[in-house]
Amino acid sequence: MATVREHCCGADIFFDQKMASKQYRQYLNKGAGGVTAKIIQQLERTSPRGKSLIDIGGGIGALEWWFLENQGGSTIAVDASSGYLEMAEKHANERGWEDCTRFIFGDFAAIHPQLEMADFVTLDKVVCCYPDYEHILEASCNKASTYLSLSYPMDGLLAKLVASIGALKARLKTRTFRPYIHPVSNIREIIHRCGFERIAYDMVFPWHIETYRRR
Ligand SMILES: C[S@@+](CC[C@H](N)C(=O)[O-])C[C@H]1O[C@@H](n2cnc3c(N)ncnc32)[C@H](O)[C@@H]1O
Repeated sequence: MATVREHCCGADIFFDQKMASKQYRQYLNKGAGGVTAKIIQQLERTSPRGKSLIDIGGGIGALEWWFLENQGGSTIAVDASSGYLEMAEKHANERGWEDCTRFIFGDFAAIHPQLEMADFVTLDKVVCCYPDYEHILEASCNKASTYLSLSYPMDGLLAKLVASIGALKARLKTRTFRPYIHPVSNIREIIHRCGFERIAYDMVFPWHIETYRRR
C-alpha cells in the first residue's frame, strides 16, 4: 500500500497535462460535466457574492469559474496535480482574475494549516482519490465557515468492482495512485460531527452529490 505522500505523487502523474488539456477542451465545448453541474445547481441556492471559496482537487477549475462568474470574491485551488493547476491558472489569467485567484500545488490534508477559513469549500470527486478520507474530510470541514459541497462514489460491491477496474487502469500509468471506495455512512457521520447539516442531495450514478451548511 502506497503512503499518502507516494499516493499524491501518483495523482500528479495520473492527472497529467494531457488529461488536463482534454478536460479543459470538454469544458470549453460543453461546460461543466454532469456531477460538477449538479454541485453548481446546489450552490445556485446560495449567494457567492463577495464570498471566498477553497476548491480542493478542483481540476481544471469549473467550480471556481462558476463562482467568480457569479460575483464570488476570491478562490483558492489546492490540487495534487500540477497539470490541472497550470491549466486552471492559465484560464484565470486569460480572464483577468489574477488578483482574486490562488493556485496551490500539494496535498490539502498536509497544507491546510497554511490557509484561512473560506465561506465555501468544495471537493468534487476528490475523497475517492485519497486514502485517509477521515483526515481530508475533517480538514475540509474545519476550513468551511458556511458551506461544504462534495461528490463521492456510492459504496457496496458494485462500486468496489468498478473501482477495481479504475485501479487497474491507474496501475498502468502510475504504481502509487488508485481510487478508493470509502464507507458512505462514515463520510456523512464525520461531516455531521464537524457541525454541518445537509441541505441538498442528488445522485448521478454512481456519485452522491451533497451540500452542507454549518449548523
Ligand atoms: C477525479 S479528479 C476531479 C477533478 C475535478 N474536481 C473534477 O471533478 O473534474 C481528482 C482531483 O483531486 C486531486 N486530489 C486528490 N487528492 C488530493 C489531495 N489530497 N489534495 C489536493 N488535491 C487532491 C487530484 O489531483 C485531482 O485533481
